[in-house]
Amino acid sequence: MKAEMDREELLAWLRADDPIRLEALWRHADHVRQRCVGDAVHLRGLIEISNYCRRQCAYCGLRAGNRTLKRYRLCAEEIMAAAREVAAIGYGTVVLQGGEDPAIETGWIARLVRQIKAETPLAVTLSLGERDTAELAAWRAAGADRYLLRFETSDPALYQSIHPGLNGIPVHRIDLLAQIRALGYEVGSGIMVGLPGQTYASVAWDLLLFRELDLDMIGIGPFIAHPMTPLGARSGEQAVTGNEQVPNTVQMASTVVALARILCPQANIPSTTAMATLNPRQGCQLALERGANVVMPNFTPWIYRQLYEIYPSKGIPDSSADSICGRLENQLTGMGRRIGRGPGGRIGRWIGSKPEFEIYENVGYA
Ligand code: 5AD
Repeated sequence: MKAEMDREELLAWLRADDPIRLEALWRHADHVRQRCVGDAVHLRGLIEISNYCRRQCAYCGLRAGNRTLKRYRLCAEEIMAAAREVAAIGYGTVVLQGGEDPAIETGWIARLVRQIKAETPLAVTLSLGERDTAELAAWRAAGADRYLLRFETSDPALYQSIHPGLNGIPVHRIDLLAQIRALGYEVGSGIMVGLPGQTYASVAWDLLLFRELDLDMIGIGPFIAHPMTPLGARSGEQAVTGNEQVPNTVQMASTVVALARILCPQANIPSTTAMATLNPRQGCQLALERGANVVMPNFTPWIYRQLYEIYPSKGIPDSSADSICGRLENQLTGMGRRIGRGPGGRIGRWIGSKPEFEIYENVGYA
């Protein structure tokens, strides 16, 4: 099992159902994680700044066509208050995420980023959908460090069928990711696992694309059907892909996490909310034990949280950020892990400055 794994090998692992073999894969991924990014689990404070969206993605509850969803947009003061909370609790990164909200202005985000960078030591990650180069450049100039944009699937036909273009013009997210890279952002992308119509072969290509793009961050989560979306309404139908259909389970998604870790040993890989939503008791921990090294606790104010309903039950109200943090710390310690300090950027890609963890520089993988 090497980072050079080829498509056939990946396919065999994706199709594997022997628990003993899978256990060996997961253990290996955990070992690579330990050697290449260490035991620190970086926490990113997530602020969901707007649930308005102009797009019609067939899987997402925020799609413009979902008229049943009450829409909200945080004001600058609410975002700053949440960002200060993220800094005060000791996290190194804040993530501003939102739908493609046409009312979000370039200058407004740029000012927010400047203010966060001026008032806190936080690294700033943006996840605001497909934006044009001038906007992305302005936000980078304002100090934004990272950008997240999942390509969702590398299968062109499946991609087209679930992403109606804006005014009929399809956007090529892979090209956009290259532009984001060229602007000097750390680049994050990823996929959903178990989309209706997604085959094992296409997920093998997705994994190879992670490596080719040399992603700094890789987000992988199971697809969860949302009844107010075309894909959700269709779920339960016999998939056209027969036994080539990838299941949308925590086990399958965590196997994809494990393979992503082996192929991209130094990437930051979150244990995603979708994992914890499908399996509230174990989902988060399973991903952390199978290659993930990041968790993104939610700092969106409570009154808005359940409105950011990408998929059902996402914003399960359980407790405040403080007690989530307390529990996380205990849980991580119990797993032999610890909370990461500092911005927790990509190891080995520090342009012009010292790598954050010299000890892990140039460490190979088994
Ligand atoms: N199930 C799981 N993940 C989803 N996302 C959007 N809708 C769903 C869904 N129904 C993921 C997409 C998107 C990210 C913000 O959330 O991968 O990029």
